[in-house]
Amino acid sequence: MSRAPSRVVIDCDPGIDDAIALMLAYASPELDVAGVTTVAGNVGLDQVVDNALRVCDLIGPPAAATPVLRGYAGPLARALRQPDEPVHGAYGLGGVELPAPSRAAHPGHAVDWTAGQIRAAAPGEFTLIATAPLTNVAALLHGHPDTRERLKEIVVMGGAAFAPGNTTPAAEFNFHADPEAARYVTESGVPLRIVGLDVTREALTPLADAEALIADGAPVTAAAGRMLSHLIDRYARRHTVRACAVHDALAVAAAVRPDLLEWTDAWVTVECAGEFTRGALVADVHGRTGHAPNARVASGVDAEAFRGFLMSRLRDRYGAARLAA
Ligand code: RIB
Ligand code: CA
Repeated sequence: MSRAPSRVVIDCDPGIDDAIALMLAYASPELDVAGVTTVAGNVGLDQVVDNALRVCDLIGPPAAATPVLRGYAGPLARALRQPDEPVHGAYGLGGVELPAPSRAAHPGHAVDWTAGQIRAAAPGEFTLIATAPLTNVAALLHGHPDTRERLKEIVVMGGAAFAPGNTTPAAEFNFHADPEAARYVTESGVPLRIVGLDVTREALTPLADAEALIADGAPVTAAAGRMLSHLIDRYARRHTVRACAVHDALAVAAAVRPDLLEWTDAWVTVECAGEFTRGALVADVHGRTGHAPNARVASGVDAEAFRGFLMSRLRDRYGAARLAA
């Protein structure tokens, strides 16, 4: 007897890996995506919203009808920091041009809409999957505190508990972009799983997979392959490896197949004041702070199993063979 799908809201900043994460979420019958909320991050909010709408159109039903909502255009406690360079290309999708959105964003603010969804559902029904700076999520938990105990869990792509950052030596992009929000979420007491650079960098998607998706030739697989190729080109220039981390897709995979990862209980917080450590995820795995654990931190990943999971889900749901069947 299969379990009922988990109802989720995905808070994102597409962004190539956010786009792949959305594709994976809609290719996973274990998830029921009730809404896609957006926040500034990889690109500015207007572009993020436009990209989210275009990707949902590309995915098709039910994504094309899923409410997409505008969230915050930047952190609440400090100035917005745009990436120093367009990692995801000028418009955020690796130069892959998708048709203009077929619809506008759903009216209302992402945070208020999400709060309403959570209140209307049974306690423990909703999971948040956050693949962007945590401004919206922190605003939800702060402005609608009753949602904290109604949420099943929050799965976050962010941080680097035991590995170097990717934005500063100490900090990963999502946590660096809004460290106050990240700290608020980590210390909120809501059940939390953190999928950080410690594991996303170990589960790379090779060029061969991107090329196979392009060769498949269906609209979604080809677009996914071209987006991934953009990231791989950048990785190849910086890291001499012809592969890329699809950070946000691993967070979605963690919500569907937590067995793909190893988890370590820890008390976590985020540094907000350090001159060189702003946004750093601090994970106390040995109880040195005296605090009880407040998160499960992904500390290992079955890279080949994730690779196979991602590729098979994308092909089975969107591939040319599926469309021809
Ligand atoms: O550090 C990786 C994270 O920052 C991912 O969510 C990526 O999309 C960017 O937002
Ligand atoms: Ca992201």
